[in-house]
Amino acid sequence: MVSADLLVVGSGFFGLTVAERAAERGLKVLVIDRRDHLGGNAYSETDPETGIEVHRYGAHLFHTSNERVWEYVNRFTDFTDYEHRVYTTHRGEVFPLPINLGTVNQFFRSAHGPDAARALLAEQADEFDSSTARNLEEKGISLIGRPLYEAFIRDYTAKQWQTDPTELPPEVISRLPVRYTYDNRYFNDTHEGLPVDGYTAWLERMADHPGIEVRLSTDFFDEGQEANKSATVGVVPVVYTGPVDRYFDYAEGRLSWRTLDFESEVLPIGDFQGTPVMNYADSDTAYTRIHEFRHFHPERDYRSDKTIIMREFSRFAEGDDEPYYPVNTPEDRERLLAYRRRTESESGVLFGGRLGTYQYLDMHMAIGSALSMVDNQLPDLLPSLAGD
Ligand code: FDA
Repeated sequence: MVSADLLVVGSGFFGLTVAERAAERGLKVLVIDRRDHLGGNAYSETDPETGIEVHRYGAHLFHTSNERVWEYVNRFTDFTDYEHRVYTTHRGEVFPLPINLGTVNQFFRSAHGPDAARALLAEQADEFDSSTARNLEEKGISLIGRPLYEAFIRDYTAKQWQTDPTELPPEVISRLPVRYTYDNRYFNDTHEGLPVDGYTAWLERMADHPGIEVRLSTDFFDEGQEANKSATVGVVPVVYTGPVDRYFDYAEGRLSWRTLDFESEVLPIGDFQGTPVMNYADSDTAYTRIHEFRHFHPERDYRSDKTIIMREFSRFAEGDDEPYYPVNTPEDRERLLAYRRRTESESGVLFGGRLGTYQYLDMHMAIGSALSMVDNQLPDLLPSLAGD
């Protein structure tokens, strides 16, 4: 018998935000996670060989324009002044991203100002009409013209989706932003930075509350542990942040996801690529990008004779693969609606986070939506919270 006021399934940013807020209001919260560490996909760890902080589930860059979220996260960590910038390699040449005036002028060997570049791309984009594009390729060309599309979007997208862009629906991309300045800062948000002591220290501070107990390596669907689904639903209020289709035993079918494979390598040099993230735009390179983690923290005194890099490969998830990005086919959307109807009639359980709602959420979005759940939905489950 679980002796808690609230059970939170999943210790990612969504689950920990709910747990911390509820504990701060005097509730006893049990957080379980099937993994052997807390923090969900934002978890990071120190590579033993190089001493460099590595993001185990892919690079995580914090950015937000939501003042409430910014105020909240600053209770647990300070942030560095890191600003994210990305470059891409195409046919042996490196270009800045997102596509900006620097990319355009380097690519066309030109010296256009903003108006001339805009006119050039508008002329090249005239080949297809965006509103009648029949596939991703036509849509991409209608947005930025064929030359830039073929160089920077076509093969990269094919690698991400293991599918030729002529076979992908146009809705996969709604816009391809082009900046008619030389600004290549990746995010436009008011606040950006990386946690000074790393992600795991931040996540641990969120869980470090006398009202919170965390149990790791504990699966909600494992009947052998006491906080399992059949022993808790209807008995103790539950916030569930695992996959929504798994909760209902895939009764409406499986929702499809893309996953990533990561290949790490320690190199006997101080610096491999001179930048945190290098994309590989062409089809002759199987990976989509390489992360070099030392560059996320130039302020740290990392050793200068070794570096760690991580190559990223993208593919459709199968079986027990980690679900990373929702594929969102028309069938997925149908299934999601069916699951949403089921969640609405599942009394005593709230569904949240990226897996529980089947949507891509940045960290600030996961935290913001958890704060809203605590304000708006949790008091229905826990009347003691109402009126706080
Ligand atoms: P999250 O997946 O983190 O946590 C869910 C937890 O539930 C997991 O720990 C899981 O083990 C647990 N769980 C699942 N089933 C369970 C069960 N049956 N029993 C017990 N526990 C269970 N965001 C951003 O702002 N900047 C960035 O740069 C990136 N980069 C990035 C890269 C990649 C490759 C991905 C996939 C995602 C990002 N993100 C990101 C998004 C970020 O990872 C996301 O916002 C958070 O993970 C969301 O937190 P959640 O708590 O919703 O899920």
